[in-house]
Amino acid sequence: MAGKVFFSVSMSLDGFIAPESVPVEDFSAPEKQDDPQVQRWMAQWMELQQWIFPQRFFRENLKLGEGGEEGRDNDIARDTFERTGASVMGKRMFDLGEQAWPEEAPFHTPVFVVTNEKRDPWERPGGTTFHFVNDGIEPALDQAREAAGDRDVRIAGGGATILEYVNAGLIDEFSIALSPVLFGSGIRLFEGVDAGRVVLEPVRAEPTQRVTHLTYAVRER
Ligand SMILES: NC(=O)c1ccc[n+]([C@@H]2O[C@H](COP(=O)([O-])OP(=O)(O)OC[C@H]3O[C@@H](n4cnc5c(N)ncnc54)[C@H](OP(=O)(O)O)[C@@H]3O)[C@@H](O)[C@H]2O)c1
Repeated sequence: MAGKVFFSVSMSLDGFIAPESVPVEDFSAPEKQDDPQVQRWMAQWMELQQWIFPQRFFRENLKLGEGGEEGRDNDIARDTFERTGASVMGKRMFDLGEQAWPEEAPFHTPVFVVTNEKRDPWERPGGTTFHFVNDGIEPALDQAREAAGDRDVRIAGGGATILEYVNAGLIDEFSIALSPVLFGSGIRLFEGVDAGRVVLEPVRAEPTQRVTHLTYAVRER
């Protein structure tokens, strides 16, 4: 049986999934480390994702060390990982991750990067191979479905790529970890959504001490 297509992101209470963009090369340039824009980006990102960093599963998966919290936030992080048989992501998310992920990238499955850039597959230790797909979101999803088998396909991000899949009617379900932070500006999750096309059905709402996890099924209007 084919799996579902879903996304799962952390979002600020005012609707942003990332701070205002900073050129990706600035994150690694030594002379930019004290740049206020870079520092602000990092601080906002840490606040947005503050719920997941202490979780045991997250720490193990990124090899950050032993221990960590084991409550409902941890279960959700683990379940999201375990249901995922392949991921799809946009090139800007990939570019940031290429700098930030450890050598053993945290997916441990095939990842399909939608991009205009031509590039050979990039295999990492631990089972993650990044494939670069140049012919759009549907071929990327077809390849991800094939690779995922009976497991689900996660549209990992970022905002532009998730929006393309939502507007194409290709998302079955999504989850948002609603973080208690306000950004004021940045990358808005649903900027440009085809609202006339999409109907949401609430599936679950689970508050924890750190965030509120919201899950919706997506139906066509
Ligand atoms: N809060 C969360 O949970 C979460 C999760 C994931 C990501 N994020 C954040 O999201 C941000 C990135 O999001 P974003 O909206 O800026 O960008 P994005 O969706 O990651 O990438 C957009 C880029 O992907 C390529 N692309 C997308 N669709 C394409 C298509 N149909 N054909 C060809 N190429 C296509 C294009 O790049 P090229 O033209 O260069 O190929 C496009 O500029 C990052 O800051 C990341 O940290 C947040």
